Amino acid sequence: MKPLVLGLVLSLAATAATAEVAVPEKAAACAACHGEGGAKPMAPTYPVLAGQYANYLEHSLHEYQDGRRKNAVMAAQAAALSKQEIKALARYFATQPGPLYTPTLVGTTN
Ligand code: HEC
Repeated sequence: MKPLVLGLVLSLAATAATAEVAVPEKAAACAACHGEGGAKPMAPTYPVLAGQYANYLEHSLHEYQDGRRKNAVMAAQAAALSKQEIKALARYFATQPGPLYTPTLVGTTN
């Protein structure tokens, strides 16, 4: 019971503290698998994007593009993204509240 209450408090605090980051145009496509704001993936094998470090998300997307990270589904998703779109998507998902949300990250993403 206690972790549930703590989780609720943290998620409320996270919602209040979320910095305003414009929703990138391409983010809607990502929600189909990663959930709204990248916070609620459709299946346990789909990672949570919300609250991960922006530079990690950015790095991963570049690796899917150039094949250093191999995953057929994400390679197809990342293929058409520009460098700017990847940066914007990474920044957006990093600042969304979710189970991995880190309040100290708000305002520190680049
Ligand atoms: C059809 C389903 C699907 C869609 C749509 C999708 N993804 Fe993914 N995504 C996945 C799966 C499955 C993985 C795990 C792949 C792996 O194991 O490397 C993943 C992994 C990722 C990762 C690595 C996360 C980590 O924790 O290592 C990032 C970043 C990511 N996706 C971003 C995006 C973005 C941005 C979009 C929209 C442009 C998107 N995804 C659209 C299914 C999807």
